[in-house]
Amino acid sequence: MADPLSLLARRLSPAFAAVAGAEVDPVVRPSEHADAQVNGALALAKTLGKSPRDVVALVLEHAGDMSDVCSDMQVAGPGFVNVVFTDRFLAEQLSLAMRDSLLGVAPVDSKRKFVVDYSAPNVAKEMHVGHLRSTIIGDALVRMLSFVGHEVVRENHIGDWGTPFGMLIEHLVDLGEADAAHELGVGDLDGFYKEARRKFDADDTFKERARTRVVALQGGDEDTLHLWKTLVSESTKYFNHVYGLLDVLLTDDDLAGESKYNTLLPEVVQRLSRLKMLVESDGAEVVFPEGYTNRDGDPLPLIIRKGDGGYNYATTDLACVIDRVEKIGADVSLYVVGAPQAQHLQMIESVSRAAGWLSDNSAMVHVAFGSVLGADRKMLKSRSGDAVKLASLLEEAVDRANRAITEKNPEMADAQREEAARMIGIGAVKYSDLSSDRVKDYVFDWDRMLSFEGNTAPYLQYAHARICSIFRRADIRREAVRTVVPTLDAPQERALTLRLLQFDSALWDALDKYSPHRLCTYLYELASEFTTFYEHCPVLRADSEELRDSRLFLCDSTARIMNAGLSVLGIRAPEMM
Ligand code: ARG
Repeated sequence: MADPLSLLARRLSPAFAAVAGAEVDPVVRPSEHADAQVNGALALAKTLGKSPRDVVALVLEHAGDMSDVCSDMQVAGPGFVNVVFTDRFLAEQLSLAMRDSLLGVAPVDSKRKFVVDYSAPNVAKEMHVGHLRSTIIGDALVRMLSFVGHEVVRENHIGDWGTPFGMLIEHLVDLGEADAAHELGVGDLDGFYKEARRKFDADDTFKERARTRVVALQGGDEDTLHLWKTLVSESTKYFNHVYGLLDVLLTDDDLAGESKYNTLLPEVVQRLSRLKMLVESDGAEVVFPEGYTNRDGDPLPLIIRKGDGGYNYATTDLACVIDRVEKIGADVSLYVVGAPQAQHLQMIESVSRAAGWLSDNSAMVHVAFGSVLGADRKMLKSRSGDAVKLASLLEEAVDRANRAITEKNPEMADAQREEAARMIGIGAVKYSDLSSDRVKDYVFDWDRMLSFEGNTAPYLQYAHARICSIFRRADIRREAVRTVVPTLDAPQERALTLRLLQFDSALWDALDKYSPHRLCTYLYELASEFTTFYEHCPVLRADSEELRDSRLFLCDSTARIMNAGLSVLGIRAPEMM
């Protein structure tokens, strides 16, 4: 635990407990007038019926000598304490944090098993920008959770089953396997889907073939399954191409598509029926979770089995809950899924709890996100008005980054520039998504995301690359300064150190709310703090060798935390740009 605010709270806890006669939160917060402010006495005074200033006095008496941590503790206002940390304490904490493999971030104290459901595109359909968001946010959460020491299982719940596969397979038969594979392989998933749909709507014999095919697919007919597998594998090849460009962790081992739960579907029906939760409604078998009504106030059903015997998206999701809890042993399931599916997921949770599949110890969390909007503030579309092809979007990002670096640094060697362009272009797309509060819609804006100013990936990456170049210029290995305990004479050195020590709380804060943008805000503040430090404190031209090393230590620490922070967001930091 590196954040001095948390350390101070821990240090003051026994004093508060002694005065209160019970555990109370010392409520240590950042302060504008000092390094921290202790506010805990205010609430405690109310419970004790004393004046806050008297309570503060008692707490400080119990705390005893704090001079190893604080150089100043001023009681102020109605009864809070403004605290200034000693330089030495801060310097030592930073030096400790930098020797720790988690860079001062507190590892998890009770490790839990997380299943993270993310990306989840649909077979033989173009991935849309919603899948892009899910992929980026989900991947960042996976990395953050693993970093602090949780166990994480990635699941890519692709849409690889259901009635549309009748028409898709028949279209594949019409095209011939080889041509169909080619079309899907080059990523023309939308063209394929649309043509199948067009035939289905226009041609009754095709429609009949599609229907028969669905029955054959569900009946496990071998030829049909073979054709279905072709569709799935050609599509996942395309998804993998996008994942490769995006640099996310998902692989084929993480595929847990809808088809995986097929064999469990009859059991879902049996279990619900045994629990007497299943009701017949308009010929279908449904469950009415409590508290859900439609616009007219009528109870809203979750359809489990349709009149024709077919199962539903909801049935699969219920089977999926059973699988995650009973087979995988998940303590927490995160669903990184767009906000429009909120009600669906709430109903799934409600039924699963009522059925006893989710106990009090197992959490199901909808990590919802808003839409991606174009400059016109409408849903992002390509120029032709079609859905944006993700592969071309990502390629464009790299191209644009390439042009931006060429402008900034024309001397860079081609190979290096291309590598940096990938990191910056992809980083920019990911960061612009991650840095906005996920529940809100966000505007996809090339110029803003690729700008070297402001809360953008290139700005943060640049801070990192700049530090790497300081070391290169001086021909000093970064490892060489890692045992230094810095001196913090200049206010900018102190401010930077305080900020570096907050990596711990920033990461945990982001994780607690499954909100990566909180970590982004921190990294942006860190980069700005570094810029200020670098403007005021000469590093290579420092007055003494000792001071130079101390400042080099601060530079190295900044670069390491920037790199680690970007890395848990799934963003790479080039050493040169
Ligand atoms: N394939 C779905 C879609 O494209 C998302 C699936 C999300 N995960 C889940 N378990 N329902 O909308």
